[in-house]
Parts: sequence; C-alpha cells; structure tokens
Amino acid sequence: MKTTLTILATIFAAKALAAPTDTTYPPPPGGYDSITYPAGTGENLPYYPPPPGGWKSVTYPPGTGSDASSSPFIFTSTYNVVALGSEVRNGTTSAPGPKDAVGFFNFGINSVMDTICYNITLLNVAGDYRSPAATATHIHEAARGASGPPRLAFPNPIGDDTYRVSTGCLTGPFVTGLKGADGRDTGEGFEVKQIEENPKGFFTDSHTVLFSLGVVRGQLA
Ligand SMILES: *[C@@H]1O[C@H](CO)[C@@H](O)[C@H](O)[C@H]1NC(C)=O
Ligand SMILES: *[C@@H]1O[C@H](CO)[C@@H](O)[C@H](O)[C@H]1NC(C)=O
Repeated sequence: MKTTLTILATIFAAKALAAPTDTTYPPPPGGYDSITYPAGTGENLPYYPPPPGGWKSVTYPPGTGSDASSSPFIFTSTYNVVALGSEVRNGTTSAPGPKDAVGFFNFGINSVMDTICYNITLLNVAGDYRSPAATATHIHEAARGASGPPRLAFPNPIGDDTYRVSTGCLTGPFVTGLKGADGRDTGEGFEVKQIEENPKGFFTDSHTVLFSLGVVRGQLA
C-alpha cells in the first residue's frame, strides 16, 4: 500500500514538473522605457504620410501593386503592326506585294535592357525568303512611303505558304549582316530605344524571292 502511494505521488510530482509554467521576463534595469531601439525598429519606424487624396487615390504603374500581372516580362513599349503588300516601296515608288498576304508583327521592347521580343505571323506568304542581310525579316529605319536600311534582323517565320510564325527576343548589340554605304553593319550602334523615341520612323517587313523589295510592310506607328 505504501509503495502504491509512493508511486502515485511520484507520478503526480512528475506531472506537476512537466506542466507548462508561465515564463516572466523581468524588465531590464531602468525599465523598458530606458531601452534605445536601433534605427528603423521599435518606435523609430519611419512614418509615411498618406498622399493628397489618401492611399486609395494612388494609381500604381502597370505591373505593380494590385495591378501586378503574372507575366515575367517587362516591356517599356509594345507595337502591334498589321503589315500589308500595298505598303511596300522601292525607294518612294509603290511596289506592292500580293493582295492576300498579311503579316502580324507584334513587338515588345525593353529599352533599359536593349531587348526586343517578337511574335510574328505571316499569312499567305509563299516561297523562299531572300535578302542580302542575314535574315529576310526586319525592322528598317524609314518613314511611311520611303525606304531605308534594316536595323534589326529577326529569324524568318517558319511554316508553309499560308501560315508562318517566328517568336523570340533579341538583345543588343545588333547585327543585320548587311553593310551600309559607310561599310559598317546597318545594325551597328543601333539601340531599340531609338524606336521608342520615333516609332513613325521605323517599319517592319519580310522579303521573299518573288517579292524581294518586301512581301508585306507595316509602319511601327
Ligand atoms: C527599284 O527601282 C529602280 C529604279 O528606281 C529599279 O532600277 C530597280 O530595278 C527597282 N527594283 C526592283 C526590285 O524592282
Ligand atoms: C504569338 O501570338 C499568337 C496570336 O497572336 C499567340 O497565339 C501565341 O501564343 C503567341 N506566342 C507567344 C510565344 O507569345
């Protein structure tokens, strides 16, 4: 009997010892008010006053705040160009491509990174490509109705005579593979920010054996 009681007493004692006890942290000498918190913590947190009109009036830039999108790409500008045969020029003279051909040239530029992404679809563009440049799909520098040198050469859209696609991105320094009158590559020194500065001064096109001056052409603005 005595033994049993001793065991019980031991169990209760053990339980009492294992039970959580409130931990109290005594204040530091001088009390909590005496503490100097490091800058940026405690009561030194910076206070940002609301803007005129309050926080709800703020319009956040695209891709930030509540407008954040899931796209990992950041473009400083985008261009959606519909290119047609009727826009093609030899110099300033009209040299139209086929009536049923159309090109959807979609570009996204990040001028900080000197990068241009492209998503190009050509419909009813038949036959092989042809250009003295490295590829036959370009952005040229010239106003509408005029001709000018290629500044960017994109991989040619791939597919059949009714549907061709090319997607990807290029980052400077750029090379077109075509030498200008000064003997330098026409892409040398070019930066995509020049397109943003004057999109009306640039057009995009594609050249084929049948339409070497351009099968479709469209101005960036
Ligand atoms: C472009 O025009 C010039 C004359 O201005 C002409 O000599 C040349 O053959 C034309 N090019 C094409 C491919 O038609
Ligand atoms: C290119 O554009 C087409 C239609 O506009 C779209 O269906 C396709 O997903 C785009 N491709 C890429 C890689 O974004």
